[in-house]
Amino acid sequence: MTGPAGFPVARPRRLRRTPALRRLVTDVRVHPSDLILPMFVKEGIDAPAPIGSMPGVVQHTLDSLVKAAYEAVTAGVGGLVLFGVPAAKDARGSAADDPDGIVQVALRRLAAEVGDSTVLISDLCLDEYTDHGHCGVLLPSGDVDNDATLARYASIAVAQATAGAHVVAPSGMMDGQVGAIRAALDGAGFDAVPILAYSAKYSSAFYGPFREAAECAPRFGDRSAYQQDPARSAGEALREVALDIAEGADAVMVKPALAYLDVLAAVRAATDLPVAAYQVSGEYAMVEAAAANGWIDRDRVITETLTAIRRAGADMILTYWATEVAQRLR
Ligand code: PBG
Repeated sequence: MTGPAGFPVARPRRLRRTPALRRLVTDVRVHPSDLILPMFVKEGIDAPAPIGSMPGVVQHTLDSLVKAAYEAVTAGVGGLVLFGVPAAKDARGSAADDPDGIVQVALRRLAAEVGDSTVLISDLCLDEYTDHGHCGVLLPSGDVDNDATLARYASIAVAQATAGAHVVAPSGMMDGQVGAIRAALDGAGFDAVPILAYSAKYSSAFYGPFREAAECAPRFGDRSAYQQDPARSAGEALREVALDIAEGADAVMVKPALAYLDVLAAVRAATDLPVAAYQVSGEYAMVEAAAANGWIDRDRVITETLTAIRRAGADMILTYWATEVAQRLR
């Protein structure tokens, strides 16, 4: 076949003609075991509490947490990430490393109930536990004290591993956090516990609904003195990733996902370690809100976003839709 000027006309459409052809040439797939479900567990409630800005997501009781974990595992979801919401908060986030703190209690329950049939990942940060809502302990000036925070993170890592976390995931963006946590875990006999580092985490408005879910909006200021500036190119993210790998990270994360696919692709190209991407609360809320208005095809948009995140290079995706999508894929 030739075109107007006598050249052969390329026909990429040939491979799109039938569903079977399209399926045959597909090379980007979302698999249930690539998905990680973030879960919130709240201390002192006797029924799951809906999160207004995240329809379909709840703050769990211990019992509803276990039930939802079973559902996720049965659907083939690859892992669970746990966030605790304590009943009481203080300046140093004491509940975060208390053996009787909500996350440790929940980890012990999950380890006993779903145990090795999944990967239990604990988010490792202070913002859910501090009364001021920042991700670290504060200097008198109100700035986060980086190195005093590292000592807290080290203690939290050991508490979480002791309670049964298979993987710890530091999300506070303190300098040196991976190295401090690695040393603490090794020193306590947890040298086999991997670190999934939130390496490239941006100071993002897409976390808005999460702060309702985890009750952790900062009381003053914001997180831009420790989280990355969205207005910087991927090079800074690559530097954060390289530092985390040098300090002992076993896997790295980019967060949020959809607005940072360029960063994700750059990180993918820069490392052979597993790369995770976090489809965050605001990404979830936008789709749910538009779908509730009948403005988009909800299921197709969910699949398309997850496919895009995989296409950009993520091996694993943290998504609040993990169980639903895994069920649909089975
Ligand atoms: C910090 C943390 C946050 C999220 C995950 N870990 C909030 C923040 O940095 O403000 C956000 C996740 C989401 O928006 O879904 N512990």
